[in-house]
Amino acid sequence: MQEEHLLQEIIAIAKDCGSILLSASDIERKIHQKAGRGNFVTDYDSRVQAILKSRLLELVPGAAFLGEEDQMDGTDVSKGYAFIVDPIDGTANFTRNYHASCISIALAQDGRPVLGVVHNPYLEETFHARKGKGAYLNGQQIHASDRTLAEGLILFGTAPYDEKLIRKSFEVAYRYVSRAEDLRRSGSAAIDLCMVASGRAEFFFELALSPWDYAAGALIVEEAGGFVSDLQGGALTYDHSQAVTARAPGVELVDVSDVLENDMP
Ligand code: IPD
Ligand code: CA
Ligand code: CA
Repeated sequence: MQEEHLLQEIIAIAKDCGSILLSASDIERKIHQKAGRGNFVTDYDSRVQAILKSRLLELVPGAAFLGEEDQMDGTDVSKGYAFIVDPIDGTANFTRNYHASCISIALAQDGRPVLGVVHNPYLEETFHARKGKGAYLNGQQIHASDRTLAEGLILFGTAPYDEKLIRKSFEVAYRYVSRAEDLRRSGSAAIDLCMVASGRAEFFFELALSPWDYAAGALIVEEAGGFVSDLQGGALTYDHSQAVTARAPGVELVDVSDVLENDMP
């Protein structure tokens, strides 16, 4: 299928799934607990993922499919085409009607994202990028900001499902925020990445994210002229959970190795 056509089809699927989130009712009665602290899934996550799986695999038959609600049970995303999707990123927000959640879809080729779509139905914002073709918000090209860390807005995720990481997360956040302008916490890593890509914020980190949280957003940041890496500047991979940062090009990483090495209570 022609690349532009594929992109438009994937955007259309993301928007259809977004409509499901907007018309969701009775969410409180459709919440189920998953493994880990404060980790929930709703009937909507499962329903959206099932739709994504069947419609995306129709577009690229034979592609591998890694979605949060199937977990990583041996899906190999390192060879050929693979979809890496989060049906609802920001499920906790979704269950509270907080209106900051999105659908995140990446298409990877040989282990690297080549196409990413993040659709936030509440703001009708659709971010997309294709490898080497730039990043866009609702069809308009976007760029990471040219601000420095001192002028920067910091975003972070608290790695909420792993209690041991929460304190470290706040310590790392302090290292950045004390050198920057201020801080926000949205509850959706994919949206946060798109905020860095669109120049609305300068730095994002989370100490543990899964590929479905960042695969699409990471490509969107890179195509917008920003950088993604782990906390020490190492390249991201898309086959296991890891720490993730995203930054505007004028923002340097701060040394937090002592925080990462320390075994905090
Ligand atoms: C979560 C969100 C949140 C981040 C968590 C993620 P989910 O994804 O992206 O911002 O802090 O680490 O797991 O569970 O809502 O898909
Ligand atoms: Ca997620
Ligand atoms: Ca999710």
